[in-house]
Amino acid sequence: MPKAVRESAHPTPALPRKTLGLLTSGGDCAGLNAVIRAVVARAVQGYGWRVYGIRHGTMGLLRRPVEFEELDMGVCNNNILRQGGTILGTTNKGNPFAFTMPDGTLMDRSQEVIDGVRQLGIDALIGVGGDGSFRILRQLAQEGGINFVGIPKTIDNDIGATENSVGYDTAVMVATEALDRLQPTAASHDRVMILEVMGRDAGHIALAAGIAGGADIILIPEIPYTIELVAQRIDQLRRGGRNFALIMVAEAVPAPAGGSVRQQHAGGTTTYGGIGHILGEVIAELTGAETRVTVLGHVQRGGQPTWSDRLIASAFGVHAVDLIAEGIFDRMVAWQNRRVVDIPLATAIESPRRVEPDGTLMRTARGLGICLGDA
Ligand code: F6P
Repeated sequence: MPKAVRESAHPTPALPRKTLGLLTSGGDCAGLNAVIRAVVARAVQGYGWRVYGIRHGTMGLLRRPVEFEELDMGVCNNNILRQGGTILGTTNKGNPFAFTMPDGTLMDRSQEVIDGVRQLGIDALIGVGGDGSFRILRQLAQEGGINFVGIPKTIDNDIGATENSVGYDTAVMVATEALDRLQPTAASHDRVMILEVMGRDAGHIALAAGIAGGADIILIPEIPYTIELVAQRIDQLRRGGRNFALIMVAEAVPAPAGGSVRQQHAGGTTTYGGIGHILGEVIAELTGAETRVTVLGHVQRGGQPTWSDRLIASAFGVHAVDLIAEGIFDRMVAWQNRRVVDIPLATAIESPRRVEPDGTLMRTARGLGICLGDA
């Protein structure tokens, strides 16, 4: 039985030719193409295997003929690792176990996906996704007897048992840079600037970028806040001679009166979004300060990946292929203590990783005198 955590063994390539399937699933982020490039480099160059890139996650497996392309080193040259998005396309809709049909009814189409995998004749499947995707892909793997390995990606960085997921570092860099750009304009106009960032139910992006970008106040969903304490901090800054304030807020932070703030999209889907504007109005009322709100949105997901995202994407891709070479499945590659390791997929999806109230970043924020809305 494999250990709970393993380091890469990097075996010598001398194995019968395999065919791998590779798909990206869930919301895109920077670094996905770097993962694709690493998987193809290791599998094709390293082992002499074949890689089929499946288009648009499990959606490609539902279509007939199955939508895929063979990925060779021509496609996966060293240029794609610099590019945002995913050359394979992705989807964060279309759960095959509860697929929304055109008439709005839900249908279990999982068997069609499993048949799609069989039609490809692949020996193993690598899925690059978040915890939601992994739940679906693991169930498909179990029901369809598919040899599966997961690679974690999400700007939210909320996947259990990995310190970093692909895309998180770039999102934090973008949010930090946004604060760098907001500070001079806030100071020029004597304004309170509010920056709303993504992260779904976790405050990792807001906390890290808030500290790195010099926010005065950081509000995250893990820490209940009181709007009066936020207003008091702005007054305190003013009394100390400051003519501006920077507030970082995570999208899942509830409204001052309670209740999550969501946006309705055409087609019926909803996402978090809008807390920044609600806070802006209340803070303006309570403090008399001129407030402006920036909602960063999908800017955090696009663009060139940082060196760090490229690095873990590369390490994850190589390690995932090495696992398959060793015949080890139902694992997720992970980043722990500056190493690439792999853990049981079940452990990774057990519970999402939230900001720890007494963790290093929280202690750092409090130590810097940043207001977290609770004191
Ligand atoms: O999970 C990634 C994420 O960007 C979240 O931070 C955000 O809440 C959500 O996806 C947005 O989803 P969509 O791409 O459907 O707008």
